[in-house]
Amino acid sequence: MAKKSEGYLSAREARRISRENRKITNAYEKARKRKNVPESEYLTQMHDPNNSVEFDNLHTYFFTDAGTVKAVDGVSYDVPIGKTVGVVGESGCGKSVTSLSLMQLLQRPQGQVVEGEIRLNMGNGKAYDVTKAPNEVLQRLRGNYVSMIFQEPMTALNPVFRIGDQINEVIELHDGEGKSEADIKARTIELLEMVGIANSEGVYKMFPHELSGGMRQRVVIAMALACNPRIIIADEPTTALDVTIQAQILDLLRNLKDKINSSIMFITHDLGVIAEMADYVVVMYAGRIVEKGTAEDIFYHPAHPYTIGLMESKPVVGKKIDKLYSIPGKVPNPINMPDYCYFKDRCEKCVERCSGAYPEMISLSETHKVSCYRYYDKKEDAK
Ligand SMILES: Nc1ncnc2c1ncn2[C@@H]1O[C@H](COP(=O)(O)OP(=O)(O)OP(=O)(O)O)[C@@H](O)[C@H]1O
Ligand code: SF4
Ligand SMILES: [Mg+2]
Repeated sequence: MAKKSEGYLSAREARRISRENRKITNAYEKARKRKNVPESEYLTQMHDPNNSVEFDNLHTYFFTDAGTVKAVDGVSYDVPIGKTVGVVGESGCGKSVTSLSLMQLLQRPQGQVVEGEIRLNMGNGKAYDVTKAPNEVLQRLRGNYVSMIFQEPMTALNPVFRIGDQINEVIELHDGEGKSEADIKARTIELLEMVGIANSEGVYKMFPHELSGGMRQRVVIAMALACNPRIIIADEPTTALDVTIQAQILDLLRNLKDKINSSIMFITHDLGVIAEMADYVVVMYAGRIVEKGTAEDIFYHPAHPYTIGLMESKPVVGKKIDKLYSIPGKVPNPINMPDYCYFKDRCEKCVERCSGAYPEMISLSETHKVSCYRYYDKKEDAK
């Protein structure tokens, strides 16, 4: 019979975990479904009014039958108004779960924010903590304040409805009050033109399958912009597209950002894309932030061995090499994280202190922060 120490669970143990999970998640769901929750329960204040979002010590866990997956485990970073923050890290490090926590679109009931705040700037000195806001409030926030561009445009569009009707519906739902049918259509056409679709009247009447991948992603971007959101989450928006179209979509997002003055959270595992798009960069590893700073800090002075490894594994034009560098080893199991630096088993730059507890984040400069023992002698604790 397989033992727990070998990574297997007995049926009895799995039943016990499942029962406990149900107890925990039921309590969270009950709180979220409450009606007429007073605003004071989720009203908060931005620590800096120049930010549109502040993630503060966010912990998002998945209560699965195999155990608790600590997908995001103490993440803090800010998204300043009108700026682009690039979030980078290898597959499974918690990039999407962080953004889904902001939208409160985690897979329920197993996915829950268990600790921390996500402060969303509502303007006029007001801010909401979305982790405490009930469902009925969140529905209003999605689209109007925060919207999302997904990786695969075909899954974001409904194949049986025309493009125009799908964008009209978004406007009607979030911003339709007092608008006639003609007003809504005019706004949809305006949006299609804004995202660079030349034949906007023609595309208005088309079905998603009649468009190319790049055109579909432009439509998805138009939908995300429909209600002038303050923050746009772009989760790998170009990964499903070929390189030339990818460059066009990145250009489009860059130009749009200046026009609409929204903040963008740009999630990708491609450092090249981040270099083109981001003002600030957050590097995630195994559910935590290992380094953050301005794009210049991260690209010219990378400090964490993981960030340095990511830089080295990127091809450079004009530099001839036999084989691209790859970081050895693999990410630890998210159900059973070690009690020392999560990168230690893959790190080629270990120092003696690395066998101690997980390293706290320290400041290398006012903007640049890293979580690594190599820099402990140089700087004081940032927390
Ligand atoms: N519904 C779920 N149930 C259980 N675990 C989940 C669920 N969704 C995500 N996770 C886990 O959370 C962790 C973070 O996942 P996430 O999707 O945020 O990764 P990511 O950084 O976006 O990766 P990628 O680059 O592949 O999109 C992973 O370990 C993943 O297995
Ligand atoms: S703390 Fe040590 S093991 Fe962890 S990344 Fe830094 S040098 Fe490597
Ligand atoms: Mg993802």
